Amino acid sequence: MAEVPPGVKGMNDILSPEVSKWQFLEEKARGVLEAHAYRELRTPILEYTPLFVRSVGEVTDVVEKQMYTFDDRDGRSVSLRPEGTASAVRTYVTETQWNKEPVTRWYYIGPMFRHERAQRGRLRQFHQVGAELFGAAEPSVDAEMIAMLCAMLVELGLPATSVDVTINSLGEPEERAAYREALVTYYAAHRDRLDDDSRRRLETNPLRILDSKNPEVIAVNAGAPILLDSLGAPSRDRFARVRELLGALGVRYEVDPRLVRGLDYYTSTIFEIKSSAGDLGAQNTVAGGGRYDRLVGSLGGPEVPAIGFALGIERTLLAMPGDAESYEPALGVFIGPLDDAALTYALPLAQALRAAGFRLEIEHHPAKPQALLRRANKLRARAAIIIGSNEVTSGQLTVKDLAQGTQSLVPRADLEATLRQMLD
Ligand code: HAM
Repeated sequence: MAEVPPGVKGMNDILSPEVSKWQFLEEKARGVLEAHAYRELRTPILEYTPLFVRSVGEVTDVVEKQMYTFDDRDGRSVSLRPEGTASAVRTYVTETQWNKEPVTRWYYIGPMFRHERAQRGRLRQFHQVGAELFGAAEPSVDAEMIAMLCAMLVELGLPATSVDVTINSLGEPEERAAYREALVTYYAAHRDRLDDDSRRRLETNPLRILDSKNPEVIAVNAGAPILLDSLGAPSRDRFARVRELLGALGVRYEVDPRLVRGLDYYTSTIFEIKSSAGDLGAQNTVAGGGRYDRLVGSLGGPEVPAIGFALGIERTLLAMPGDAESYEPALGVFIGPLDDAALTYALPLAQALRAAGFRLEIEHHPAKPQALLRRANKLRARAAIIIGSNEVTSGQLTVKDLAQGTQSLVPRADLEATLRQMLD
């Protein structure tokens, strides 16, 4: 027998019942975003590679090790998007969006691609709900966005106590440059304890060393100078105001002065959300984001401040309560015909009931009543209508309430009202 070629490693099919939980998440997320006046943005999954190199950063794990990059048939290097911010900024600039509205709020839901070591909560095709806000630099914007993200997680059923918000400020690039010098001096003194990756980063991007997962490097990092300490008064005051407003919004958070995030475009406020709910395991960062006030300018637009975040859908699903089955929509009505004449009667009846808003399945293979009822129960239908020649001639239909185990004879004209009552 021929063997089916396997799916690509780290890329999953999503089918029922899991897809119901996905749909629930997407619907709730949209609801929260739309309530905050965000509008959906849909960009292509493929971009020319330099967009990601110039925004995410050349010396980042994402660009150096994880991008799906290849030449298209015209010989131009393209990459599957590893994240959504770069594309949103490209759109913002090509659309000269700043001419259309002072503040732009966009969100997106879709697949991202990173060639990582696949494991629980870490995939090669994963999905994000992302939000980006352009044109407002006020600290209240940062606080409101973090609060919105928390509201979204609560809306998805995560207990508020299981959601841990961590924030930090990276300050302005000029402040980071001074800090970089301090870091280089520190790491140079501990060079022998760094791994190859970190030694290389010492030359190219020393801040990345703070993000290392190597236990030996983590130990070195414990003594490294702290960025918050080297920020100037305006950056520190701004960060204090963000914290004050988070407090006013009732958001519990912690400041982690070592939080750096893995993408280069960030400035000022950055944040991550971990969850202790569900069975997330080690990959328990469900969302991350921050300001990127210089990115629009560096990609050819005017100096427009911006901030955003992305929520990992797969990880959030693992943190949400209930198994996928519990998110499956119930089947309202099942119609079972006993013979072909009954099927002829039942088909337009089914159409009329669907138009009236019922979720309905019709059995196309006529069978005995017992077999039809077994099928209805298996589908977990709430009501079953078994139709034979008596029903067709009399127009009186037998409606079984499968939850109560009762049945009643209902004239066709009263059917919708009866079903509605039963399904309420
Ligand atoms: P990120 O931290 O790279 O940020 O990703 C955001 C979230 O996506 C992570 O917290 C995680 O939940 C999920 N995620 C990332 N990689 C994987 C993976 N391989 N498998 C499963 N889930 C994953 C960004 O992507 C930024 N674009 C966020 C942002 C928007 N910053 C400003 N605007």
